[in-house]
Amino acid sequence: MAEKKKHGLLNGLTHYGDPDFAAYLRRSFARSMGYSEEMLGRPIVGITWTASGFNNCHRGVPQLVEAVKRGALAGGALPLEFPVTSLGEVFLNPTSLLYRNLMAMDVEEMIRAQPMDSVVLVGGCDKTLPALVMGAISAAKPAVVLATGPMSTGRYHGERLGACTDCRRFWAQYRAGGLDEKQIGEIEGNLATTQGTCAVMGTASTMAILCEAMGLMLPGGAAVPAVHADRLRQAEASGLHAARLATDKAGDGLTFDRIITPAVAENALRVLLAISGSTNAVVHLAAIFGRLGIGLDMDLMNRLSDETPVLVDLKPTGAHYMEDLHAAGGAPAVLRALRNQLHLGVPTVTGETLGEVLDAADPWSDPAVVRPPEEPISPQGGLVALSGTLAPKGAILKRAAATPALFEREGRAVVFGSLEDLSRRIDDPDLDVTPDDFLVLQNAGPLAAGMPEAGYLPIPAKLARAGVKDMVRISDARMSGTAFGTIILHVSPEAALGSPLGLVRNGDRIRLSVEERRLDLLVEETELARRRESFAPPPGVGAERGWRRLWRDHVLQAAAGVDLSVLRGGRDGGRENSS
Ligand code: FES
Repeated sequence: MAEKKKHGLLNGLTHYGDPDFAAYLRRSFARSMGYSEEMLGRPIVGITWTASGFNNCHRGVPQLVEAVKRGALAGGALPLEFPVTSLGEVFLNPTSLLYRNLMAMDVEEMIRAQPMDSVVLVGGCDKTLPALVMGAISAAKPAVVLATGPMSTGRYHGERLGACTDCRRFWAQYRAGGLDEKQIGEIEGNLATTQGTCAVMGTASTMAILCEAMGLMLPGGAAVPAVHADRLRQAEASGLHAARLATDKAGDGLTFDRIITPAVAENALRVLLAISGSTNAVVHLAAIFGRLGIGLDMDLMNRLSDETPVLVDLKPTGAHYMEDLHAAGGAPAVLRALRNQLHLGVPTVTGETLGEVLDAADPWSDPAVVRPPEEPISPQGGLVALSGTLAPKGAILKRAAATPALFEREGRAVVFGSLEDLSRRIDDPDLDVTPDDFLVLQNAGPLAAGMPEAGYLPIPAKLARAGVKDMVRISDARMSGTAFGTIILHVSPEAALGSPLGLVRNGDRIRLSVEERRLDLLVEETELARRRESFAPPPGVGAERGWRRLWRDHVLQAAAGVDLSVLRGGRDGGRENSS
């Protein structure tokens, strides 16, 4: 019996050397799960199952998957969930970024290997949406993103709390002696009180909004709280839409690799700046675009940053939480406010252009949370790219979360050679440090350490106790999207490669000029050459075998999104490797 169907269960048969036998065997085994022939004849909607006992943010995934299934069944498809790697941000050692590409590879191969016609990508916690999108781009099957949604806020002594900007604020107070053990324990119990992703404009919220801005999600889906009934309706609608994509020829033209073009990439950068989103998104967008051969141009980002107003008033740079953004009109309100600066003719997964989607959105929004462009929070975007002799391939500063008084400075370097060195010495009462110094952390980049969120170097305890709230901090690490401070991140090339960052020594002078977009190490080249000769690379996070061997051999620097060189490339799964 020859393969007759163009979609559904008999797609992509297992190779036994006899396709008819493979079809017969697959039907037989599928029937063992109790499905009727009518069900097994339907197109198939795959659903990523990213729940895990190690992922609090995805606690609601089982309920969401049920709602997706409801929608897919109503649309005439057979919904089948399948497990993929789940990355719970705070449960992973040494850092979740080390596993984003592993998850992306898992997602890509499981979408490609299994007989699904479209897929609903359920995820939310920081690295999961980038990994799902990267995998779906490379798998090139019709897909819809469904975010788990943000947590709701908690309360402590009448004060509203949300992970994780408030986590850091209270921890800084505790370190400075302003809170005792009992108080910090009570706060710990009230920071994260529901399912869902961090309640502020952290990486998860940023990536959800960018997925909506890029047209990869049904409209309005980014900000609905995880516990809100609308979240389940969004899930049902996503399942219904995935069923359409699975049966409709239009689905073939709406794969992510076709939706994301340079114009969409520019829209995403613009929106990132307008929401004052997480610095991590720069790395994730570079990786997403890199899968399609689209570079993330730092000069373009700076140009957009200079002309894009910050419109969203959310923590960590503003006052509100994600649940307030939902009540204020959600991502559609932000996109409508920005519409004059967006490419509106680009496609979305709905089949309509972005302009058509925005025309259909509710025109109401709350100006306290989503400002009109004439009254922005800031006339310029939240992020700037820096370069100079200390960062030849670039670095990132979230100026919206930084202290402007520190923007034009020269300072003395106080250097920590590794994460261990940092934790050993930062609170040493004898540490030679003043508030005017620049704290420098080396060897926290992709190769050395998996690029953890360690760029938010703590203020040395003796300075914190004296009331110092911010200092210039420089590293090749990342920073949580929920953090704040004058923190220069993603310095590239990383220190472990013997770059200028790796050659900085205590007492060197460093010059920062945000206005000139410069970060310079004021040390003579002859002296740097001398240091280079004796440079010894750190052991790094790589290993001789397994995933970490792949990481060690193929990981790219921050400017290329920290993807693996072997995962970049086109629809064929990445033959055009680039480094
Ligand atoms: Fe999951 Fe913050 S820890 S989104």
